[in-house]
Amino acid sequence: MSTAPEYQSPTVTVATSLPKRGVGSAVLILPVVTGDDDTARVVSTPFLDATAVGEIEAALAALGAKGGSDQVTRVIAPSLPVASVLAVGLGAARDEWSADAVRRASGVAARTLSGTESVITALSELNTETAVEGLILGAYRFSDFRSEKTAPKEPALAKITALATAKDAKANAVRGTDIATAIATARDFVNTPPSHLFPAEFAERARALGKSVGLEVEVLDEKALEKAGYGGIVGVGKGSSRPPRLVRLTYKGAKRGEGKKVALVGKGITFDTGGISIKPALNMHQMTSDMGGAAAVIATVVLAAKQQVPVDVIATVPMAENMPSSTAQRPGDVLTQYGGITVEVLNTDAEGRLILADGIARACEDGPDYLIETSTLTGAQTVALGARTPGVMGSDEFRDRVAGLSQQVGENGWAMPLPEELKDDLKSTVADLANVSGSRFAGMLVAGVYLREFVAEGVQWAHIDVAGPAYNTGGPWGYTGKGGTGVPTRTMFAAIEDVAKNG
Ligand code: BES
Ligand code: MN
Ligand code: ZN
Repeated sequence: MSTAPEYQSPTVTVATSLPKRGVGSAVLILPVVTGDDDTARVVSTPFLDATAVGEIEAALAALGAKGGSDQVTRVIAPSLPVASVLAVGLGAARDEWSADAVRRASGVAARTLSGTESVITALSELNTETAVEGLILGAYRFSDFRSEKTAPKEPALAKITALATAKDAKANAVRGTDIATAIATARDFVNTPPSHLFPAEFAERARALGKSVGLEVEVLDEKALEKAGYGGIVGVGKGSSRPPRLVRLTYKGAKRGEGKKVALVGKGITFDTGGISIKPALNMHQMTSDMGGAAAVIATVVLAAKQQVPVDVIATVPMAENMPSSTAQRPGDVLTQYGGITVEVLNTDAEGRLILADGIARACEDGPDYLIETSTLTGAQTVALGARTPGVMGSDEFRDRVAGLSQQVGENGWAMPLPEELKDDLKSTVADLANVSGSRFAGMLVAGVYLREFVAEGVQWAHIDVAGPAYNTGGPWGYTGKGGTGVPTRTMFAAIEDVAKNG
């Protein structure tokens, strides 16, 4: 079993023309659209001559291919030096393609070609970055826990040749590879079962990954957490024999005296049973994904370092296992969050906000300009927005900015409000706050309102609830397979880059 902290992406090379030799077993991925006569037309390409295009279009017509989006058709092209051609549909013809349309078509192609070791893609002429990214993500697989009995017999995708003529194609290919590698690394963390990924182990893997790109790393163990007053992390973690951690990863990208500081905070519950307020057995195993926010945050700060974005990024990642036991916290217990606010724990299953409040309070001590926190926080997120749409809350301006960027990068976060009146629902009879409201209304927003209490004055913040989007329990689609998705890594990275550019 591999414990390498970073996902091993295929090698990516850029070529300005179709290689003439040595690609006999490779498959060529070619974008097609629906033509006027309802048959598939090859998207105009500098890489094929008219003979090859005619040959491919004739074969596609014979097979009834229409070039609809996500439609894939495999044909042979005897005049080309490749094993076969995979035509991937983009739908109706147009002049420009959205970044995500290319990413998605690439993902569908990669999933179709599962077991193929080497691909050459012409999608990269439309968008090199997202073509490469979609291929890597669509080809992603996780088989660390399969013995020879069920391990994949077919090779993994090892080599991508991206056909592209633009001057900056090489840089964009590297960028796409780095982004996809970060997302795949987050997926690996999520897909690693709770038997093997518990707080101390998660912290060590985060440390190794951070060190590998030169980040400053600090890890607080249970004694240090207790001593420093992290009552939320300690309270949630105390039901488990596997004690909690707080990991801090610092990337210093800002030039001396210039540049902004961005804080990231991610929920790292390595398994959420609910604690004494225990969850029903049905689907409880899906709570292996309850560290999806932490995984994305760790992946994002590492990505920012790799891409050398000129801002400071400090990730604060609380990690705990939420278990019922004789040492677990009880409903009705009172704990003191980092910074001094007291909380009555009415429901031990609302544990995410308890560890996040500590994390947010600590992150604010660094004096960040912006704070992005993300978590698989509430089942109510999926009720409100479904499995693929993250809920974005926070301070008005920054929330809208982050939601807009999330749309641009194809993760599709949606802005949601934090109504003032919901704070009354969090009144406690014994402490400053209760960790849940007495009503079932607006569960996603109530959690956001709770977190707001811990954000320091003047810090622009965004809270991204990815309870559904971090973990795909349905069938595969686009570049997303079953299991961990890596969401919202791209959103956070886009926000960091946007802050670097626009302040
Ligand atoms: N980790 C869960 C939220 C969750 C639910 C994530 C489904 C992914 C899929 C969280 O800790 C939780 O249990 N939240 C409670 C909050 C409630 C007690 C106020 C919930 O959503 O039921
Ligand atoms: Mn819970
Ligand atoms: Zn949880």
